Amino acid sequence: MKVLVIHGPNLNLLGIREADIYGTDSLSDIDKKILSLSTELGMDTKTIQLNSEGEIIDAIHKGDYDLLIINPAAYTHTSIAIRDAIAAVGKPSIEVHLSNIHRREEFRKKSFIAEVAVGQISGFGPDSYLLALRATKSILSK
Ligand code: DQA
Repeated sequence: MKVLVIHGPNLNLLGIREADIYGTDSLSDIDKKILSLSTELGMDTKTIQLNSEGEIIDAIHKGDYDLLIINPAAYTHTSIAIRDAIAAVGKPSIEVHLSNIHRREEFRKKSFIAEVAVGQISGFGPDSYLLALRATKSILSK
């Protein structure tokens, strides 16, 4: 089971960026938790962080995964191009957010990605990624 986790723009600043909203874990702390659970679940997971929309689309196109877990960050609310890339590749995808995007500013309530994802996990901090991994195991075992 090959899983690709894409962390979108500004998530490289986790731990120092708006810690009241996103928590104090750095991205490498979160990646360690993801990789540790992945090993426990017997999955082969790769994580990458990309700040630009084009690079995210290129990574989605490569298709070297059975399921994509993606936190598109601000592109969630703007990017029809990332939405179309996910739809074009046709692999199952899970949308993840650290914060609960539905209880924040109005503009964060719209996700272009949700329409092409199996589901959205939002609001559980780093556990959002771990819940997504558990969902991945269940989706790929069917
Ligand atoms: C985020 C929520 C987005 O609205 C925001 O732009 C981010 C992070 C989250 O994980 O909570 O950068 O995706």
